[in-house]
Amino acid sequence: MEKNKNPGLTREKQKRTSRREVLRGIAGGITGTAMAGSAFAAADTGSTKIDKTHGYLPPDVPSWSKSLGPGVVTHPYGQPSKFEADVVRRNVDWLTADRIASVSFTPIADIKGIITPSGLVFERHHAGIPDINPDHHRLMIHGLVERPLVLSMSDLMRLPSVSKIHFLECAANGGMEWRGAQMDRAQFTHGMMACCEWTGVMLSTLLQETGAASTATWLLAEGADGAKMSRSIPMAKAMDDAMIVFAQNGEALRPEQGYPLRLLTPGWEGNTSIKWLRRLELGDQPWHHREETSKYTDLMADGQAREFTFVQECNSLITTPCPENPLRAKGKYQIEGLAWSGRGKIKHVDVSVDGGVNWREAKLAGPVFNKAWTRFSLDYDWDGSPALLQSRSMDDTGYVQPTYEQLKQVRGTNSIYHKNAIHTWQLLATGDVVNVQLA
Ligand code: CO
Repeated sequence: MEKNKNPGLTREKQKRTSRREVLRGIAGGITGTAMAGSAFAAADTGSTKIDKTHGYLPPDVPSWSKSLGPGVVTHPYGQPSKFEADVVRRNVDWLTADRIASVSFTPIADIKGIITPSGLVFERHHAGIPDINPDHHRLMIHGLVERPLVLSMSDLMRLPSVSKIHFLECAANGGMEWRGAQMDRAQFTHGMMACCEWTGVMLSTLLQETGAASTATWLLAEGADGAKMSRSIPMAKAMDDAMIVFAQNGEALRPEQGYPLRLLTPGWEGNTSIKWLRRLELGDQPWHHREETSKYTDLMADGQAREFTFVQECNSLITTPCPENPLRAKGKYQIEGLAWSGRGKIKHVDVSVDGGVNWREAKLAGPVFNKAWTRFSLDYDWDGSPALLQSRSMDDTGYVQPTYEQLKQVRGTNSIYHKNAIHTWQLLATGDVVNVQLA
Protein backbone atom coordinates (compact mmCIF):
# COMPACT_ATOMS: atom_id res chain seq x y z
CA MET A 1 0.00 0.00 0.00
CA GLU A 2 1.22 3.48 -0.76
CA LYS A 3 1.16 6.40 1.58
CA ASN A 4 -0.39 9.86 1.22
CA LYS A 5 -2.39 8.95 -1.89
CA ASN A 6 -5.48 10.44 -0.31
CA PRO A 7 -5.94 14.17 -0.86
CA GLY A 8 -8.32 14.09 2.11
CA LEU A 9 -5.48 12.99 4.34
CA THR A 10 -3.28 15.78 3.13
CA ARG A 11 -6.00 18.37 3.72
CA GLU A 12 -6.54 17.09 7.25
CA LYS A 13 -2.86 17.26 7.93
CA GLN A 14 -2.63 20.81 6.60
CA LYS A 15 -5.57 21.85 8.76
CA ARG A 16 -4.02 20.34 11.87
CA THR A 17 -0.66 21.89 11.14
CA SER A 18 -2.07 25.36 10.73
CA ARG A 19 -4.05 24.99 13.96
CA ARG A 20 -0.87 23.92 15.73
CA GLU A 21 1.01 26.86 14.30
CA VAL A 22 -1.58 29.24 15.67
CA LEU A 23 -1.29 27.63 19.09
CA ARG A 24 2.48 27.71 18.93
CA GLY A 25 2.28 31.40 18.02
CA ILE A 26 0.26 32.04 21.15
CA ALA A 27 2.64 30.07 23.28
CA GLY A 28 5.53 31.94 21.66
CA GLY A 29 4.86 34.93 23.88
CA ILE A 30 5.62 32.91 26.99
CA THR A 31 8.98 33.26 28.65
CA GLY A 32 10.81 30.25 30.06
CA THR A 33 10.29 31.43 33.62
CA ALA A 34 6.53 31.87 33.16
CA MET A 35 6.18 28.25 32.05
CA ALA A 36 8.32 26.63 34.69
CA GLY A 37 6.45 24.66 37.33
CA SER A 38 2.89 25.19 36.10
CA ALA A 39 0.96 23.15 33.57
CA PHE A 40 -1.43 26.07 33.19
CA ALA A 41 1.07 28.88 32.61
CA ALA A 42 0.81 28.56 28.84
CA ALA A 43 -2.95 28.94 28.80
CA ASP A 44 -2.85 31.88 31.24
CA THR A 45 -0.28 33.88 29.35
CA GLY A 46 -1.75 33.00 25.96
CA SER A 47 -5.17 34.08 27.16
CA THR A 48 -4.06 37.63 27.82
CA LYS A 49 -3.20 38.04 24.16
CA ILE A 50 -6.57 36.73 22.90
CA ASP A 51 -8.33 38.79 25.56
CA LYS A 52 -6.90 42.07 24.23
CA THR A 53 -7.80 41.21 20.66
CA HIS A 54 -11.31 39.87 21.06
CA GLY A 55 -12.63 40.76 24.51
CA TYR A 56 -14.01 37.26 25.10
CA LEU A 57 -12.10 36.33 28.24
CA PRO A 58 -12.38 37.37 31.89
CA PRO A 59 -12.74 40.03 33.06
CA ASP A 60 -14.50 41.04 29.79
CA VAL A 61 -18.04 39.80 29.16
CA PRO A 62 -18.40 37.98 25.82
CA SER A 63 -21.21 38.68 23.36
CA TRP A 64 -22.99 35.36 24.11
CA SER A 65 -23.43 36.43 27.72
CA LYS A 66 -25.36 39.51 26.63
CA SER A 67 -28.04 37.95 24.44
CA LEU A 68 -30.62 35.17 24.30
CA GLY A 69 -29.84 31.88 22.63
CA PRO A 70 -32.02 29.39 20.76
CA GLY A 71 -34.75 27.70 22.83
CA VAL A 72 -35.49 24.10 23.66
CA VAL A 73 -36.15 21.62 20.83
CA THR A 74 -34.24 23.81 18.38
CA HIS A 75 -32.64 20.45 17.61
CA PRO A 76 -35.08 17.67 18.62
CA TYR A 77 -32.12 15.30 18.41
CA GLY A 78 -29.11 17.12 19.89
CA GLN A 79 -25.86 17.58 18.01
CA PRO A 80 -22.30 18.37 19.19
CA SER A 81 -21.08 21.97 19.20
CA LYS A 82 -20.02 23.27 15.76
CA PHE A 83 -16.57 23.76 17.31
CA GLU A 84 -16.25 19.97 17.56
CA ALA A 85 -16.75 19.49 13.81
CA ASP A 86 -13.27 17.97 13.52
CA VAL A 87 -14.27 15.01 15.72
CA VAL A 88 -15.81 12.73 13.10
CA ARG A 89 -15.42 9.31 11.54
CA ARG A 90 -13.07 9.28 8.56
CA ASN A 91 -12.25 6.81 5.86
CA VAL A 92 -9.08 6.22 3.84
CA ASP A 93 -10.02 6.38 0.16
CA TRP A 94 -7.16 4.22 -1.15
CA LEU A 95 -7.88 1.39 1.28
CA THR A 96 -10.98 -0.01 -0.46
CA ALA A 97 -12.35 0.13 -4.01
CA ASP A 98 -15.54 1.90 -2.96
CA ARG A 99 -17.43 3.01 0.14
CA ILE A 100 -20.07 0.26 -0.06
CA ALA A 101 -17.74 -2.51 1.11
CA SER A 102 -15.46 -0.39 3.24
CA VAL A 103 -14.53 0.86 6.68
CA SER A 104 -14.54 4.15 8.54
CA PHE A 105 -12.49 4.92 11.63
CA THR A 106 -13.43 6.13 15.13
CA PRO A 107 -11.63 9.35 16.14
CA ILE A 108 -10.05 7.40 18.98
CA ALA A 109 -7.69 10.22 20.05
CA ASP A 110 -10.66 12.51 20.77
CA ILE A 111 -12.78 10.09 22.81
CA LYS A 112 -13.07 10.94 26.51
CA GLY A 113 -13.61 8.27 29.15
CA ILE A 114 -14.36 4.77 27.89
CA ILE A 115 -17.64 5.18 25.96
CA THR A 116 -17.69 5.93 22.25
CA PRO A 117 -20.70 8.05 21.24
CA SER A 118 -22.85 6.06 18.81
CA GLY A 119 -22.34 8.54 15.96
CA LEU A 120 -18.55 8.14 16.18
CA VAL A 121 -18.39 4.32 16.21
CA PHE A 122 -16.36 2.98 13.28
CA GLU A 123 -18.31 1.36 10.45
CA ARG A 124 -17.52 -1.79 8.55
CA HIS A 125 -19.96 -2.94 5.91
CA HIS A 126 -19.71 -5.57 3.20
CA ALA A 127 -22.70 -4.41 1.15
CA GLY A 128 -23.62 -1.02 2.58
CA ILE A 129 -26.25 -0.23 5.22
CA PRO A 130 -29.66 -1.89 4.75
CA ASP A 131 -32.68 0.31 5.58
CA ILE A 132 -34.74 -2.03 7.78
CA ASN A 133 -38.21 -1.36 9.13
CA PRO A 134 -38.21 -3.19 12.49
CA ASP A 135 -41.84 -4.25 11.93
CA HIS A 136 -40.62 -6.14 8.87
CA HIS A 137 -37.68 -7.76 10.60
CA ARG A 138 -37.59 -11.26 12.11
CA LEU A 139 -34.94 -13.43 13.76
CA MET A 140 -35.18 -17.07 12.70
CA ILE A 141 -33.54 -19.74 14.89
CA HIS A 142 -33.39 -23.23 13.40
CA GLY A 143 -31.16 -26.25 12.70
CA LEU A 144 -30.25 -28.51 15.60
CA VAL A 145 -32.82 -27.00 17.99
CA GLU A 146 -35.77 -28.60 19.75
CA ARG A 147 -38.20 -25.74 18.91
CA PRO A 148 -37.40 -23.65 15.82
CA LEU A 149 -38.55 -20.06 16.34
CA VAL A 150 -39.20 -16.94 14.30
CA LEU A 151 -39.16 -13.90 16.58
CA SER A 152 -40.34 -10.36 15.95
CA MET A 153 -38.62 -7.40 17.60
CA SER A 154 -41.48 -7.11 20.09
CA ASP A 155 -41.14 -10.84 20.91
CA LEU A 156 -37.47 -10.22 21.73
CA MET A 157 -38.27 -7.21 23.91
CA ARG A 158 -40.38 -9.46 26.17
CA LEU A 159 -37.33 -11.49 27.20
CA PRO A 160 -35.15 -10.42 30.16
CA SER A 161 -32.51 -7.98 28.96
CA VAL A 162 -29.04 -6.99 30.19
CA SER A 163 -26.71 -4.04 29.58
CA LYS A 164 -22.95 -4.48 29.34
CA ILE A 165 -19.98 -2.30 28.42
CA HIS A 166 -17.71 -3.96 25.86
CA PHE A 167 -15.26 -2.88 23.19
CA LEU A 168 -15.87 -3.85 19.57
CA GLU A 169 -12.79 -4.11 17.37
CA CYS A 170 -12.36 -5.08 13.73
CA ALA A 171 -9.89 -7.93 13.29
CA ALA A 172 -8.06 -5.66 10.79
CA ASN A 173 -7.50 -2.82 13.28
CA GLY A 174 -3.88 -1.74 12.73
CA GLY A 175 -3.56 -4.16 9.81
CA MET A 176 -1.86 -1.54 7.61
CA GLU A 177 1.10 -1.45 10.02
CA TRP A 178 2.34 -5.07 9.77
CA ARG A 179 5.24 -4.17 7.49
CA GLY A 180 6.05 -0.76 8.95
CA ALA A 181 4.54 2.51 10.12
CA GLN A 182 2.19 3.77 7.43
CA MET A 183 -0.72 5.80 8.79
CA ASP A 184 -0.27 9.36 10.03
CA ARG A 185 -2.76 9.55 12.91
CA ALA A 186 -4.15 7.43 15.75
CA GLN A 187 -7.57 7.45 14.10
CA PHE A 188 -6.09 5.37 11.27
CA THR A 189 -3.61 3.23 13.23
CA HIS A 190 -6.17 2.11 15.87
CA GLY A 191 -9.61 3.59 15.02
CA MET A 192 -11.32 0.41 13.76
CA MET A 193 -12.75 0.05 17.23
CA ALA A 194 -15.09 1.52 19.81
CA CYS A 195 -16.46 0.80 23.28
CA CYS A 196 -20.16 1.14 24.09
CA GLU A 197 -22.87 0.10 26.46
CA TRP A 198 -24.84 -2.64 24.71
CA THR A 199 -28.37 -3.69 25.70
CA GLY A 200 -30.13 -6.84 24.62
CA VAL A 201 -30.81 -10.45 25.44
CA MET A 202 -28.13 -12.98 26.32
CA LEU A 203 -27.94 -15.51 23.50
CA SER A 204 -27.97 -18.25 26.17
CA THR A 205 -31.39 -16.99 27.33
CA LEU A 206 -32.72 -17.22 23.78
CA LEU A 207 -31.27 -20.68 23.24
CA GLN A 208 -33.02 -21.87 26.41
CA GLU A 209 -36.28 -20.95 24.63
CA THR A 210 -35.42 -23.02 21.56
CA GLY A 211 -33.48 -25.80 23.26
CA ALA A 212 -30.30 -27.04 21.58
CA ALA A 213 -29.59 -30.61 20.47
CA SER A 214 -26.68 -32.22 22.33
CA THR A 215 -24.96 -32.57 18.94
CA ALA A 216 -25.03 -28.79 18.32
CA THR A 217 -21.47 -27.48 18.60
CA TRP A 218 -21.53 -24.55 16.16
CA LEU A 219 -23.93 -21.80 15.24
CA LEU A 220 -24.18 -19.78 12.03
CA ALA A 221 -25.13 -16.13 12.39
CA GLU A 222 -26.34 -14.39 9.23
CA GLY A 223 -27.11 -10.75 8.53
CA ALA A 224 -29.92 -9.23 6.46
CA ASP A 225 -27.57 -7.00 4.44
CA GLY A 226 -26.95 -7.48 0.72
CA ALA A 227 -23.80 -9.49 1.50
CA LYS A 228 -25.68 -11.94 3.78
CA MET A 229 -22.63 -11.49 5.98
CA SER A 230 -22.27 -14.70 7.99
CA ARG A 231 -19.90 -16.30 10.49
CA SER A 232 -19.65 -19.63 12.30
CA ILE A 233 -19.56 -19.27 16.10
CA PRO A 234 -18.76 -22.10 18.53
CA MET A 235 -21.68 -22.96 20.83
CA ALA A 236 -19.41 -22.43 23.84
CA LYS A 237 -19.19 -18.71 22.98
CA ALA A 238 -22.92 -18.54 22.28
CA MET A 239 -23.66 -19.95 25.74
CA ASP A 240 -20.94 -17.89 27.49
CA ASP A 241 -21.32 -14.14 26.87
CA ALA A 242 -22.74 -13.58 23.36
CA MET A 243 -25.67 -11.14 23.22
CA ILE A 244 -28.49 -10.34 20.83
CA VAL A 245 -28.31 -6.54 20.94
CA PHE A 246 -30.99 -3.99 20.06
CA ALA A 247 -29.67 -0.88 21.84
CA GLN A 248 -26.37 0.96 22.12
CA ASN A 249 -25.54 3.75 24.58
CA GLY A 250 -29.16 3.99 25.71
CA GLU A 251 -30.88 4.25 22.33
CA ALA A 252 -31.81 1.91 19.50
CA LEU A 253 -28.83 0.70 17.47
CA ARG A 254 -27.85 3.12 14.71
CA PRO A 255 -28.58 1.79 11.19
CA GLU A 256 -24.84 1.51 10.49
CA GLN A 257 -24.42 -0.54 13.69
CA GLY A 258 -27.01 -3.16 12.77
CA TYR A 259 -30.46 -1.66 13.41
CA PRO A 260 -32.70 -3.18 14.54
CA LEU A 261 -30.75 -6.23 15.79
CA ARG A 262 -27.19 -7.48 15.91
CA LEU A 263 -25.10 -10.16 17.48
CA LEU A 264 -22.35 -9.13 19.91
CA THR A 265 -19.50 -11.55 20.65
CA PRO A 266 -17.56 -9.68 23.38
CA GLY A 267 -13.78 -9.63 22.92
CA TRP A 268 -13.87 -11.39 19.55
CA GLU A 269 -13.06 -9.97 16.12
CA GLY A 270 -15.79 -7.48 15.22
CA ASN A 271 -16.71 -9.33 12.05
CA THR A 272 -18.31 -12.12 14.16
CA SER A 273 -20.71 -9.62 15.77
CA ILE A 274 -23.09 -9.96 12.82
CA LYS A 275 -25.13 -6.82 12.16
CA TRP A 276 -28.76 -6.74 10.95
CA LEU A 277 -29.06 -10.25 12.41
CA ARG A 278 -31.81 -12.31 10.77
CA ARG A 279 -30.84 -15.96 11.16
CA LEU A 280 -29.17 -18.30 13.65
CA GLU A 281 -28.67 -21.90 12.60
CA LEU A 282 -27.31 -24.52 14.98
CA GLY A 283 -25.12 -27.26 13.51
CA ASP A 284 -22.45 -29.81 14.36
CA GLN A 285 -19.57 -28.20 12.40
CA PRO A 286 -18.48 -24.78 11.13
CA TRP A 287 -19.78 -23.62 7.74
CA HIS A 288 -16.49 -22.30 6.24
CA HIS A 289 -18.24 -19.38 4.54
CA ARG A 290 -16.44 -16.71 2.53
CA GLU A 291 -15.74 -14.34 5.44
CA GLU A 292 -13.99 -17.07 7.43
CA THR A 293 -11.95 -18.67 4.65
CA SER A 294 -10.91 -16.24 1.89
CA LYS A 295 -11.04 -13.41 4.46
CA TYR A 296 -10.51 -13.12 8.22
CA THR A 297 -7.87 -15.85 8.31
CA ASP A 298 -4.23 -15.32 9.27
CA LEU A 299 -1.68 -16.16 6.57
CA MET A 300 1.42 -17.43 8.36
CA ALA A 301 5.04 -17.20 7.18
CA ASP A 302 4.94 -20.84 5.91
CA GLY A 303 1.94 -20.12 3.64
CA GLN A 304 -0.61 -21.88 5.86
CA ALA A 305 -3.65 -19.85 6.91
CA ARG A 306 -5.06 -20.01 10.42
CA GLU A 307 -8.87 -20.15 10.54
CA PHE A 308 -11.20 -19.13 13.39
CA THR A 309 -8.75 -16.96 15.31
CA PHE A 310 -11.46 -15.13 17.15
CA VAL A 311 -9.94 -13.35 20.15
CA GLN A 312 -8.75 -9.74 20.02
CA GLU A 313 -5.71 -10.06 22.24
CA CYS A 314 -4.51 -7.56 24.86
CA ASN A 315 -3.58 -4.23 23.29
CA SER A 316 -3.15 -0.54 24.16
CA LEU A 317 -2.55 2.89 22.65
CA ILE A 318 -1.35 6.25 23.93
CA THR A 319 -3.86 8.89 22.79
CA THR A 320 -2.20 11.89 24.47
CA PRO A 321 0.24 12.74 23.08
CA CYS A 322 -0.37 11.37 19.59
CA PRO A 323 -0.37 12.94 16.11
CA GLU A 324 -3.81 14.50 16.76
CA ASN A 325 -2.80 15.67 20.25
CA PRO A 326 0.65 17.29 20.01
CA LEU A 327 2.24 19.01 23.03
CA ARG A 328 2.09 22.78 22.86
CA ALA A 329 4.76 23.77 25.41
CA LYS A 330 7.16 22.26 27.90
CA GLY A 331 5.73 21.36 31.29
CA LYS A 332 3.45 18.95 33.06
CA TYR A 333 1.09 16.64 31.22
CA GLN A 334 -0.74 13.38 31.63
CA ILE A 335 0.27 10.68 29.20
CA GLU A 336 -3.13 9.09 28.59
CA GLY A 337 -4.40 6.17 26.64
CA LEU A 338 -6.64 3.15 26.31
CA ALA A 339 -5.98 -0.53 26.99
CA TRP A 340 -8.22 -3.51 26.26
CA SER A 341 -8.24 -7.29 26.10
CA GLY A 342 -10.60 -9.75 24.47
CA ARG A 343 -9.81 -12.25 27.21
CA GLY A 344 -10.81 -10.29 30.29
CA LYS A 345 -9.94 -7.26 32.38
CA ILE A 346 -6.91 -5.01 32.09
CA LYS A 347 -4.69 -5.63 35.06
CA HIS A 348 -1.65 -3.45 34.44
CA VAL A 349 -0.32 -0.86 31.97
CA ASP A 350 3.30 0.31 31.70
CA VAL A 351 4.47 3.38 29.82
CA SER A 352 7.90 4.09 28.37
CA VAL A 353 9.19 7.43 27.05
CA ASP A 354 12.50 5.99 25.78
CA GLY A 355 11.31 3.37 23.31
CA GLY A 356 10.93 0.52 25.80
CA VAL A 357 14.24 0.76 27.68
CA ASN A 358 12.66 1.95 30.94
CA TRP A 359 9.04 1.45 32.01
CA ARG A 360 6.82 3.12 34.59
CA GLU A 361 3.49 1.78 35.81
CA ALA A 362 0.51 3.86 34.72
CA LYS A 363 -2.59 4.45 36.83
CA LEU A 364 -5.84 2.84 35.67
CA ALA A 365 -7.96 5.97 35.49
CA GLY A 366 -11.62 4.98 35.54
CA PRO A 367 -13.79 1.89 35.68
CA VAL A 368 -12.18 -1.43 34.74
CA PHE A 369 -14.70 -3.68 33.00
CA ASN A 370 -14.37 -7.09 31.42
CA LYS A 371 -13.49 -6.88 27.69
CA ALA A 372 -13.81 -3.09 27.74
CA TRP A 373 -11.66 -0.05 27.13
CA THR A 374 -9.70 0.83 30.25
CA ARG A 375 -8.21 4.29 30.47
CA PHE A 376 -4.72 4.78 31.86
CA SER A 377 -2.69 7.86 32.73
CA LEU A 378 0.77 8.77 33.95
CA ASP A 379 2.37 12.05 35.10
CA TYR A 380 4.80 13.39 32.53
CA ASP A 381 6.99 16.46 32.83
CA TRP A 382 8.11 17.24 29.28
CA ASP A 383 11.42 19.10 29.08
CA GLY A 384 11.22 19.58 25.31
CA SER A 385 13.43 16.59 24.42
CA PRO A 386 12.39 14.16 21.71
CA ALA A 387 10.91 10.94 23.12
CA LEU A 388 9.70 7.52 21.99
CA LEU A 389 6.38 6.86 23.70
CA GLN A 390 5.06 3.34 24.20
CA SER A 391 2.41 1.61 26.28
CA ARG A 392 2.37 -2.08 27.20
CA SER A 393 -0.74 -3.68 28.70
CA MET A 394 -1.34 -6.89 30.62
CA ASP A 395 -4.70 -8.59 31.21
CA ASP A 396 -5.94 -10.68 34.12
CA THR A 397 -4.90 -13.92 32.39
CA GLY A 398 -1.28 -12.70 32.63
CA TYR A 399 -0.97 -12.14 28.85
CA VAL A 400 1.44 -9.28 28.11
CA GLN A 401 1.14 -7.20 24.93
CA PRO A 402 4.04 -8.24 22.62
CA THR A 403 6.68 -6.16 20.86
CA TYR A 404 6.68 -6.19 17.04
CA GLU A 405 9.64 -8.54 17.14
CA GLN A 406 7.81 -11.01 19.37
CA LEU A 407 4.62 -10.81 17.29
CA LYS A 408 6.45 -11.26 13.99
CA GLN A 409 8.36 -14.28 15.34
CA VAL A 410 5.04 -16.07 15.74
CA ARG A 411 3.02 -14.56 12.92
CA GLY A 412 5.43 -13.40 10.19
CA THR A 413 4.41 -10.35 8.14
CA ASN A 414 1.82 -11.76 5.70
CA SER A 415 -1.01 -11.01 8.08
CA ILE A 416 -3.67 -8.35 8.00
CA TYR A 417 -5.59 -9.30 11.13
CA HIS A 418 -4.92 -9.40 14.86
CA LYS A 419 -2.04 -6.94 15.10
CA ASN A 420 -1.64 -6.02 18.75
CA ALA A 421 2.07 -5.12 18.98
CA ILE A 422 3.34 -2.33 21.23
CA HIS A 423 2.90 0.92 19.31
CA THR A 424 5.45 3.75 19.23
CA TRP A 425 4.82 7.47 18.84
CA GLN A 426 7.85 9.66 18.26
CA LEU A 427 7.51 12.95 20.12
CA LEU A 428 9.61 15.58 18.34
CA ALA A 429 11.26 18.60 19.96
CA THR A 430 8.55 20.72 18.28
CA GLY A 431 5.88 18.84 20.26
CA ASP A 432 4.53 17.23 17.10
CA VAL A 433 4.04 13.47 17.17
CA VAL A 434 4.68 11.03 14.34
CA ASN A 435 4.04 7.34 13.84
CA VAL A 436 7.20 5.21 13.86
CA GLN A 437 7.83 1.50 14.36
CA LEU A 438 10.43 -0.06 16.66
CA ALA A 439 11.20 -3.75 16.85
CO1 CO B 1 -9.22 -13.95 13.25
